[in-house]
Amino acid sequence: MKEKLEQIRAEVIKKIDTSENLDALNDIRVSVLGKKGELTAILKGMKDVAPEDRPKVGQLVNETREAIENVLEEKKAAFEKAKREMQLKEEVIDVTLPAKKIKIGHGHPNTIALEDVERIFIGMGYEVVEGPEIETDYYNFEALNIPANHPAKDEQDTFYITKDILLRTQTSPVQARIMEQGKLPIRVIAPGRVFRSDEVDATHSPCFHQIEGLVIDKDVTMADLKGTLEQFAKELFGEDIKTKFRPHHFPFTEPSAEMDVSCFKCGGKGCRFCKNEGWIEILGCGMVHPHVLEVCGIDPNEYTGFAFGVGLERIALLKYEIDDMRLLYENDERFLSQF
Ligand code: DAH
Repeated sequence: MKEKLEQIRAEVIKKIDTSENLDALNDIRVSVLGKKGELTAILKGMKDVAPEDRPKVGQLVNETREAIENVLEEKKAAFEKAKREMQLKEEVIDVTLPAKKIKIGHGHPNTIALEDVERIFIGMGYEVVEGPEIETDYYNFEALNIPANHPAKDEQDTFYITKDILLRTQTSPVQARIMEQGKLPIRVIAPGRVFRSDEVDATHSPCFHQIEGLVIDKDVTMADLKGTLEQFAKELFGEDIKTKFRPHHFPFTEPSAEMDVSCFKCGGKGCRFCKNEGWIEILGCGMVHPHVLEVCGIDPNEYTGFAFGVGLERIALLKYEIDDMRLLYENDERFLSQF
């Protein structure tokens, strides 16, 4: 029996030594230690061994089993180590390879222009406020001196949601909302989206942006309006820019004006950019109408103020000499990344 066991042991260890992979090792384990394995068969045959020899034989079998298991484990560990080393070699990372470039986003011309305008007015002590894009007829028209059937309603062809609710056609309703709050004095700008039922072309879009301005205080005059907007134009377009105020009509201001700036392309001589006029219109403005102040709960005998409305796209187009507004909305990265 002893020889038999030693023979098994020597043969199995040799097989293990020459085995080539984990699968082969497993086959060997099954063939020796498995249910139908050689050693298992010997254990099963113990009943034929004389009772006095059984402990001795049992011990021998166990020793053999342990020895084989140890060698199996060692070999298995060796195979696994080799496999891991192979994997590490295959998956090696070359840290000297150039990194993938991360594309960093870029401000939209509208955003850049808005930030410019905000910076200028914040510098003059203004606060930036916002109002709703879905507005009532009351704030968009009525409170601004534009009653039903007023021709100004026609000029701003509107998207109605119901008879009384609409997409605001201008940022001017924010004026009424701020005045109503009753905190005086007021010095705000209110940028935001506005909507008009306009056909898309090079200078029109059904959705665009305005920046509203409003100042209400004691003793505010037209001189304050002119000084402020002149300073704004110079900071935005350059110190050499000249401004010109032309009388105009807006229902919510009296007197009203439009401000032109001298063409910064030709300096006022006249060119294609300013359509040979030498001047470019950039905003509407005026002294807040006493009736609007009253409707919004402010005493026009005590307070006066001025307001203005700038088209944001217009500023962006002028600033970057873009000749078609549609380019601002196409989101073509090749176009946008130029600014
Ligand atoms: N809301 C006017 C428009 O959309 C622009 C405007 C003109 C705003 C004069 C003003 C203003 O605040 O005083 O055409």
